[in-house]
Amino acid sequence: MSDQADKLRRIVECLTETKNTSKKEAAKVITVTSGKGGVGKTNITVNLAIVLSKMGYKVAILDVDFGFANVDVMLGISTKYTLLELIRGERNIFEVLTDGPNNIQFLSGGSGVEELIQLDRKQIGTFISNISLLDKLFDVILIDTGAGLSKSVMSFILAADEVLLVTTPEPTAITDAYAMIKMISKKDKHKIVKVVVNKAESLKEANDILNKLFVVSDRFLSFKLQKTGYILEDDCIPKAVKQQKPFCLSYPRSHASHQITELAMNLFHDNGGIGSSNIRGKGIKGFFSRLLSNYGLQH
Ligand SMILES: Nc1ncnc2c1ncn2[C@@H]1O[C@H](COP(=O)(O)OP(=O)(O)OP(=O)(O)O)[C@@H](O)[C@H]1O
Ligand SMILES: [Mg+2]
Repeated sequence: MSDQADKLRRIVECLTETKNTSKKEAAKVITVTSGKGGVGKTNITVNLAIVLSKMGYKVAILDVDFGFANVDVMLGISTKYTLLELIRGERNIFEVLTDGPNNIQFLSGGSGVEELIQLDRKQIGTFISNISLLDKLFDVILIDTGAGLSKSVMSFILAADEVLLVTTPEPTAITDAYAMIKMISKKDKHKIVKVVVNKAESLKEANDILNKLFVVSDRFLSFKLQKTGYILEDDCIPKAVKQQKPFCLSYPRSHASHQITELAMNLFHDNGGIGSSNIRGKGIKGFFSRLLSNYGLQH
């Protein structure tokens, strides 16, 4: 069977399965971001996706780091098409999705979002109805962004159901994370922001940072963060990056692999797991609708 036919067969199976289970209308969209660059967002996104997939969730990654779209590099898989071809109507949603390990799928943003905001109302409507299919196919959609307070990163944050904010113990990373929290709190007081400390030397160091950020945000911004997890500095991560294989697959027994599993459980533990309506957000449809309205566009 050709790749394309095989993919379509699996998608039809997936849609049929969706019908027969208690699967809800919309996926949960989580934007993974950071104030400072190089803190581990892409590693966390990719490995979290795989762990969630192993737990039984259907997971997709949308890579919107325009400059360095590196989810594909980290997986050692090249993508044929990007969001751009979908926006231009040249390819359908199934063609722009690429298979990753453990049933995850990913979609490269390319310069798609820039193009999106140039569309007219009718074209936006067509795009939204195409992209909405992702809500039927997936439980969770992780969005890997670039670092920093640019307008586009902010719009991915504000449009998401939840934000996973990554920092390291470096003072500059913590200060940049706080600047980002401040900005989010100004724009949306009720945004769910879950914080992860990466590359910590010890559990104590990670906890101290989580507590410090929590207290400062609460006191000065009246904004309640969620302390969600940590991953310690672990040599297996740069090794896995060199092998272009996610660390949770290359080094499944490493500390980092255990910690990313704990992080996945923390992310969803309040939510009753698969089948619970609570794991759902407003979906990718809600995400793109909010994103476009942030740019003053309605469909
Ligand atoms: N827990 C860790 N222990 C050791 N090294 C790590 C850890 N997490 C990430 N790294 C290393 O840090 C580097 C940056 O990781 P990654 O590319 O995931 O960060 P990023 O936040 O996505 O970067 P960018 O802002 O450029 O997109 C990689 O070389 C990776 O090997
Ligand atoms: Mg990255």
